[in-house]
Amino acid sequence: MPSHGRAPGDDRPAFDQRQFRDALAQFATGVTIVCTRAPNKRYVGFTANSFNSVSLDPPLILWTIACRSGSLGAFEAAERYAVNVLSSEQTDLARRFSHPHADRFAGVAHRLGWSDAPLIDGCVAWLECRHHARHTAGDHVVFVGEVVTVERARGHALIFHQGRFTSTASPPDLKSG
Ligand SMILES: Cc1cc2nc3c(=O)[nH]c(=O)nc-3n(C[C@H](O)[C@H](O)[C@H](O)COP(=O)(O)O)c2cc1C
Repeated sequence: MPSHGRAPGDDRPAFDQRQFRDALAQFATGVTIVCTRAPNKRYVGFTANSFNSVSLDPPLILWTIACRSGSLGAFEAAERYAVNVLSSEQTDLARRFSHPHADRFAGVAHRLGWSDAPLIDGCVAWLECRHHARHTAGDHVVFVGEVVTVERARGHALIFHQGRFTSTASPPDLKSG
């Protein structure tokens, strides 16, 4: 139901949370797993579709994490982290890293780079970042990272749309410029 018919000056939300979520779900996104190494040396990672670009010069990106997330403390303590952009073959990983799991990284092939955070095999891009800024906004914390390394691979990207996983229609060429 449209919720834009409201009197000027009326600040009350004209929608409930379901309507808000449904409207946001029309915005198709890619899917990432953001990873870091916690102070106790364990790897921490979670599925995030809030990832987005912020600035080209300097190169900045952002992502957000719920204040109630068990992973938040590790990222607040982290100077470096990695953003893994998932391919359409990685729906299982997207699910695993968004649910409780004894060890999310068990059996997940990866390498370590500059950030000392897992760069997961089979992704279509990897961005390693140093902490730039953090801002609490409502029930989430916005992290802005300065990108230090980038890498990409050919493949279909995983897409999240209307609460479902799908993929890009055809593997785009790795165009540049
Ligand atoms: C496609 C998808 C995208 C998600 N994006 C985010 C996100 O951007 N930020 C967030 O806090 N949680 C997001 N979640 C939920 C987290 O992945 C989930 O709550 C996870 O369990 C959080 O990690 P934790 O268990 O270590 O707290 C997303 C889940 C899915 C399935």
